[in-house]
This record gives sequence, C-alpha cells and structure tokens, in this order.
Amino acid sequence: MILGIETSCDETAAAVVTEDGRILSSVVSSQAALHARFGGVVPEVASRRHLELVSPVVRAALDDAGQSLDAVERVAVTQGPGLVGALLVGISAAKGLAWARRLPLVPVDHLEGHVASLYLEPGALEPPFTCLLASGGHTILLAVREKGRSERLGTTLDDAAGEAFDKGARLLGLGYPGGAAIDRIAREGDPAAFDFPVARVPGLDLSFSGLKTALLYAVRDLEPVELEARRADLAASYQRAIVRALVGRLRAAAEATGLERIAVVGGVAANSELRAALPDAAFAPLQLCTDNAAMIASCARFVEALPYPRYLGLDAYASLS
Ligand code: KG4
Ligand code: ZN
Repeated sequence: MILGIETSCDETAAAVVTEDGRILSSVVSSQAALHARFGGVVPEVASRRHLELVSPVVRAALDDAGQSLDAVERVAVTQGPGLVGALLVGISAAKGLAWARRLPLVPVDHLEGHVASLYLEPGALEPPFTCLLASGGHTILLAVREKGRSERLGTTLDDAAGEAFDKGARLLGLGYPGGAAIDRIAREGDPAAFDFPVARVPGLDLSFSGLKTALLYAVRDLEPVELEARRADLAASYQRAIVRALVGRLRAAAEATGLERIAVVGGVAANSELRAALPDAAFAPLQLCTDNAAMIASCARFVEALPYPRYLGLDAYASLS
C-alpha cells in the first residue's frame, strides 16, 4: 500500500493507493476560498495552511481507507514543480512518516503525477499515447511511451491554459479560480459572438497571453450594463478559443509522434467543452483532474523509491528541469 502526499500549490491532499492501482482513499482539502480574496494563490499563506492541514489530511486518508500506518509500505510525495515553501511542507511530512517507520520514500514529479492519474483503476490506460497536460501552472504536450517518464513535445510560451481561464474569469468578474465558472456560464452563451484569436506559434508550442489581452480589450469596450448582458457570450467565445488551441495542438502532436491514442490530464481536463471536442480521447476522471494525492501515489508505482534513510536530504524543486 502506498501513502501519497501532495502539497505543491493550494490543495493539501493525501491518498492511499494499492500496488495494482486501486484508490482506497483520496482526501483533498482545497485552500481556494482562503486565497480567493487575493485573486490568486499567495505562497506564504499556502505554506502556512499546508502546515495546519497536512497531519489531519493524512489521518483522514488513512481513516477513509480503513488502514493504519502499519499497512503502509511506501510513502510518496510531490517533489516539484510547484511553490517551494508549499512543497517543503509535504516533503517534510513524508520524510517524518517514512523515517519513523523505516519505509522507503518515493519523490514524484507533479507533472508525471498528473499523467499517472490515467493509470488508476477502474479503466486504467496503458502507454503509448500522446498526452495533453493542461493545468493552472502548466500546459504541455507529451509523448508517453512508458509509465513514470514522458517526453516533452511542446509547451506554452507564456500563460498556462488554466491560468488563461483564471485570468479570463477575473476579467469577467467570475472570481478565483475561474475555470469551472467560465465552463458553467459558457453554456448559456454564443461561442461565435466574439472572434478571439488563436495564437500561431511555431512547432508544438502554445501561447495564451494574446488571447487574454483580446478579452481585456473586449471587456473594456463594453459599458457595465452591456458587459452584464454579454458575459456569457464572452465566456463562451473565450473558452472556444482556448479549447480550439488545445485540440489543434494535441492533434498535431499525435500526428508528429505517430502515437495516435490521445489523453488529457490536469485541471483543465475537467472542462466540458474540451471533453466534448475530443470524443476519442481518454480523460482522467473528473475528481482526478485537479490536484490530488491519488495520482502521486499512482505515479510512485513506476518511479524508483529511495530506501531508508537516504531521503532525509531530499529537496524540493520549483520549476521544470
Ligand atoms: O491541475 P490543477 O488542479 O492545478 C495545477 O497543477 O495547476 O489545475 C487547476 C486549474 C485552474 O486554473 C482551474 O481554473 C482549472 O484548472 N480548471 C478548469 C476547470 N476546472 C478547473 N478550467 C476549465 N474548465 C474547468 N471545468
Ligand atoms: Zn497540478
């Protein structure tokens, strides 16, 4: 049995997963409400909250699984990328638990963790496939030929897709984080109402900052009453542009790799229009799209574990290597 811990951003999460990929428990405590009034995640606030939550969340994960620490064979933890202060809380907790029980510890890359959300039961996917990882922090196209390791094909040159959703939501007065809010309100709008550009960048890279600026200008051009009336149209058109860019790049990546099966993971994989636009893709289950620890424990099955006590000096990393 693997105990997973994830604290890379604003979710404190712990999960218990079996070696064959069954989720016995997955507890996610979101700090979103705490950060909402700042319009984004405040790193120091996140670290402090993780510190308060990590023990009760781990305890809740063990309780939900009906297990005690005695049953845990490995401890898995997100090592990066993410907010360093936030990551260090999870890493310290994992070290403490593993060291006290003389267990091995598995450091997991957060992005590989998102991909590993596809390897959980029921309905686990097997590589090879071409994967779009679209979250609040990253938007990357990957060739996945083996579990636990993937090859990067392209990435966003500026904002991540989730970030584009969040910034768009902010411009539309929909609060933070705004991806799900745009998704909801876009259903009542006309996606053809506004003509937002899809950036053309070479290769398999993406760019979303121009789109965000286009929305800013469209919003500025409207009187408050008009904005109110056209909010759903703006949301629908904006979402359509993001989805088009993602779908286009994923299809191009699949063609380039020859790995025709496609999959989508990360917070933006929860988007209903994206899911509808890719009927042939494998999507992570909704509750595993946004950050969670089940995907981290899942990934740990395919990554080398550090034996006791070799992990005591383990450090976090902030950005993509
Ligand atoms: O994977 P995740 O939980 O965190 C990171 O690792 O970054 O992704 C969070 C992102 C946020 O930007 C959020 O707005 C977006 O996923 N998101 C959505 C939806 N649900 C969450 N974006 C579009 N449509 C959704 N339904
Ligand atoms: Zn994530």
